[in-house]
Amino acid sequence: MKLSIQSSPVEQIAADALALLCFEVPDGQSPSDPSLADRSGWLADLRASGEFSGKLYETVTLHRPSGLAAKRLVVIGGGKAHKFSPVESRRVAGALVRSLKSKGVKSIVLWLDSSQAIEAYVLAAAEGAVIGGWEPDRHKSDSKKDSTKAVDSFTIAVPEPRPELERALEQGRIVAEAQNFTRDLVNEPANLLTPAKLADAARGMAAQQNLEIEVLDRDAMAQLGMGSLLGVALGSDEPPFLIVVKYKPAAASVTGVHLAYIGKGVTFDTGGVSIKPSEGMEKMKYDMAGAAAVLGAMQALAQLKPAVPVTAYVPTVENMINGRAQRPGDIVTAMSGKTIEVLNTDAEGRLILADAITYANRNGATHIVDAATLTGAIGIALGHYNIGAFTNDQEFCDRLIAATKTAGEKTWQLPMDDEYKEYLKSAFADLPNIGGRHAGSITAAWFLREFADPTPWVHLDIAATAWLDEGKSWISKGPTGVAVRLFVQLALDSK
Ligand code: BES
Ligand code: ZN
Ligand code: ZN
Repeated sequence: MKLSIQSSPVEQIAADALALLCFEVPDGQSPSDPSLADRSGWLADLRASGEFSGKLYETVTLHRPSGLAAKRLVVIGGGKAHKFSPVESRRVAGALVRSLKSKGVKSIVLWLDSSQAIEAYVLAAAEGAVIGGWEPDRHKSDSKKDSTKAVDSFTIAVPEPRPELERALEQGRIVAEAQNFTRDLVNEPANLLTPAKLADAARGMAAQQNLEIEVLDRDAMAQLGMGSLLGVALGSDEPPFLIVVKYKPAAASVTGVHLAYIGKGVTFDTGGVSIKPSEGMEKMKYDMAGAAAVLGAMQALAQLKPAVPVTAYVPTVENMINGRAQRPGDIVTAMSGKTIEVLNTDAEGRLILADAITYANRNGATHIVDAATLTGAIGIALGHYNIGAFTNDQEFCDRLIAATKTAGEKTWQLPMDDEYKEYLKSAFADLPNIGGRHAGSITAAWFLREFADPTPWVHLDIAATAWLDEGKSWISKGPTGVAVRLFVQLALDSK
């Protein structure tokens, strides 16, 4: 999809669809070109008819609108004007693309009036259009594909063009294309995306973006003593890897900050010997969504060039069951030297992350963020709308939460009081890999913290936010690409 900015008078805009934002009354009549709205009275008629109220994402299409060069005028609801923010701008653009592509519309122009023709709205709308253009149907034969009905161009029309708006549009494109790259990876089934294939995808991305990459294999990890990660890989014929991708700024950062982004890359999670029920197990192909988010963020950062170095660490394994698979009760030694009693082989994410976190610590990380589809319990605590955040450093977590808001994502912090650590007791090793029945997401985070301390660290549990079971008007069902935008924003905000 080609993205651009233009500033022709509204009457002269030639496109398959010209979209105008209209808000709910009495909050606001229509900030979208009032001259157009008032002239013919069409908007007043539409509202009076009850066919359009201005509710968020509601659309009405008028064909061959008089006095306009566009083939269609699409009125899209912006909800309450005082609540309209870049979050809504992103979704409005996504909803336009998703609803119009099925109607064969190839070119869309979204008109923003002067109150919305500012960077944050333009950036978000560009993102929304690209995100809305993505479909999870790459393995369908052509005739059944939604994505063959793609929109070719999405233009944002503003009263006055400014270079800052062009830059915002470009940033939005880069970030959203990275988010779609992440979604492509997450969407791949586990027979096609093994740990080796994930490493290949990372190599391809790194080559394209001129990023340094190193892939540690089983032997290299054994040399480093990564017994926790390697134990999970025992039950699979697919070899495990630790993928390391490095972004270095042109000038060394003055503050010495070095971000480490770590993503859980379990290409399939059967649970291992502590096997999962078969119902819904097919979804465990998305257990590498953290890994994919980190790789997507690196793709964007290579182009957006933040001031600080960022290194991505992606431990990747398949959690399977064969005659050599790890058993409940097995004790493994992590790279840090801590021994772990594996009470449940389905709590494998924390086992691979533990060694990746230690490795990041040994390689100069000053701040660590991990993203992982770690616990089913996070969905019980927060539902599908907020990422769960956990930290050992409030100041760093506050910065991350601020970046999350700027990026139009949502996190909610959960407590990490010392008392919760009491749930993690093993009679036979330093740590068990599970706590009891209570606070499952917090005990998982505490397990990770044992390897992160004392480095400032935030853990993001994305198990309930990385996958949508039902599409929304602005985004398809399937992988969401959650956390890509916040990872990018945190690096851009860092000095
Ligand atoms: N990959 C799962 C977590 C998960 C659940 C992700 C649902 C996405 C959707 C993780 O490896 C896991 O199995 N966690 C267990 C932990 C338990 C054994 C302590 C869980 O959440 O049940
Ligand atoms: Zn598991
Ligand atoms: Zn898992």
